[in-house]
Amino acid sequence: MKPHATNTLLEVRDLEVSFQGIKTITALSGISFSIGESETLALVGETGCGKSVVAHAIMRLLPPESGVKGTVEFGGKSLLELREKEMAEIRGKEIGIIFQNPSLALNPVYSIGHQLAEPLRVNRKEKKEKALSMVVGALKNMGFANAAEYTRYYPSWCSGGMNQRFLIAASTMLDPVLLIADEPGKGLDRKCISELEAELKKLKVEKKTALLLISHDLGFVQRLADRVAVMYAGEIIELAESSSFFERPLHPYSKGLLNSLPEKGFIPIPGFSPPLGNPPSGCKFHPRCPLREKSCTENHPELKEIGERAVRCFLYP
Ligand SMILES: Nc1ncnc2c1ncn2[C@@H]1O[C@H](COP(=O)(O)OP(=O)(O)OP(=O)(O)O)[C@@H](O)[C@H]1O
Ligand code: SF4
Ligand SMILES: [Mg+2]
Repeated sequence: MKPHATNTLLEVRDLEVSFQGIKTITALSGISFSIGESETLALVGETGCGKSVVAHAIMRLLPPESGVKGTVEFGGKSLLELREKEMAEIRGKEIGIIFQNPSLALNPVYSIGHQLAEPLRVNRKEKKEKALSMVVGALKNMGFANAAEYTRYYPSWCSGGMNQRFLIAASTMLDPVLLIADEPGKGLDRKCISELEAELKKLKVEKKTALLLISHDLGFVQRLADRVAVMYAGEIIELAESSSFFERPLHPYSKGLLNSLPEKGFIPIPGFSPPLGNPPSGCKFHPRCPLREKSCTENHPELKEIGERAVRCFLYP
């Protein structure tokens, strides 16, 4: 297996995102990856490394003043070049997204049923009653026994975890070919996480949905992902098939990430991620890397293909 997907559905090439402030900061640079039909690619990395910015850039949901370069091809369309109307049709219908912060994605003044039925009415032109019964069906699928009652609830009556599950149900109802799930397990208890896991597996097997899974939970990633892309300070530093990644990570940061898992002894990576506005010279990981050499502080490594994976580190020439 190559670091690229076969039957490519989504291809991101050289994505770069910058934000204007007092100073311009580069949040992402040289991000390239692909996702194949019905494939699950996980994006992992410490907080602030740019995972959500990748998701928002693909969906064109970044603030208008942000600078976005590169290409995002999806089903033969160049997403960054589409008119907003065309992009709006792709959002939700062909690419579903589960946002990291469920409370921001739900409108507090409408009932759950009303909000979840809306995309079915707009995109599928379903009648109100049919759309509502589809919502009830989707909530039942998610394990809500009294689903019909929940459609009358408002977001503020429900816990963050419940709202997250409502949004997951909503994002899958239109049968998107690609689902972007940004920390879908956040706020869910262990039982809900295993239900969510089963739901995502079902989507893959039964509906052939491809998934871009963003998660801090490496156990969840290991159980769901076909391939894993590790991000550090706005760059991909390793991309590999999931089984070989968890068996033998190559990049020193990936090794540190896996060693920080409780089952591996909870050894944290010393130091902190660099500030985006002031990254270190050379390899961005060098201040924290136990294997750095002088050249690592001066030269910036490229992401290179090594057999079936890609690694950004001079240890792998
Ligand atoms: N609209 C914005 N304007 C300015 N900076 C932003 C904006 N959105 C994100 N950033 C910055 O980009 C960087 C990457 O943020 P991002 O939210 O993608 O991180 P993340 O990897 O998703 O982290 P977490 O795991 O905590 O969700 C952060 O430093 C963040 O402050
Ligand atoms: S390039 Fe050098 S500093 Fe960077 S991860 Fe590799 S060994 Fe460490
Ligand atoms: Mg995030």
